[in-house]
Amino acid sequence: MKELEEKIKQYGTVLPGNVLKVDAFLNHQVDPELMLHVGQEFAKLFANEGITKVWTVESSGIAPAVMTGLAMKVPVIFARKHKSLTLKNDMYTADVYSYTKKTTNRISISKKYVAPTDKVLMIDDFLANGQAVEGMLEIADQAGVEVAGAGIVIEKSFQPGAGELKERGIRVESLARIKSLADNKVTFVED
Ligand code: G4P
Repeated sequence: MKELEEKIKQYGTVLPGNVLKVDAFLNHQVDPELMLHVGQEFAKLFANEGITKVWTVESSGIAPAVMTGLAMKVPVIFARKHKSLTLKNDMYTADVYSYTKKTTNRISISKKYVAPTDKVLMIDDFLANGQAVEGMLEIADQAGVEVAGAGIVIEKSFQPGAGELKERGIRVESLARIKSLADNKVTFVED
């Protein structure tokens, strides 16, 4: 997606450890117009799939996921990372390890908002090691719902997540694919 690549080129900065900082438009300050276009693009890519719900993980997945749900006219569920006072029992859960932050989060989705007839599209801001999507797949498995695929805003193609998901037969659609962040420079995968 050209508009997204241009934003990354203009505002993205590379931090040590192969981290791309995009908090100017994606995961701190959010560019709503760009997010709307991101949502519309996912809706186009996954049109005619019979998707009934969009799933993501809090917090940075919420903006692109909500715009996708808006464009597809389906509800959006964000898996919670923290124990909630009101969400107690009747949750599907999975443990998600973050290689970047070296922490494990238990993510959970209330059974109340999951139907066995659901067909789910998973949305996330980054796909690096694939742990967040793996966690959502584990929950989908527990719930017995069908998965249409994963819509990713920024894929770090040099990390293993995308390849591993595709090997498992999961459809992955990424709007920007980064080949390298070496020498503080963002290089995209050529289409
Ligand atoms: P994964 O995202 O594929 O699961 O891989 P990984 O375990 O490496 O990622 C852990 C966290 O770090 C995720 O956020 C992910 O979005 C974020 N992340 C990975 N690579 C980058 C990067 O290059 N730049 C930025 N800005 N973030 C990156 P999270 O722990 O789920 O937190 P949240 O930000 O969604 O709350």
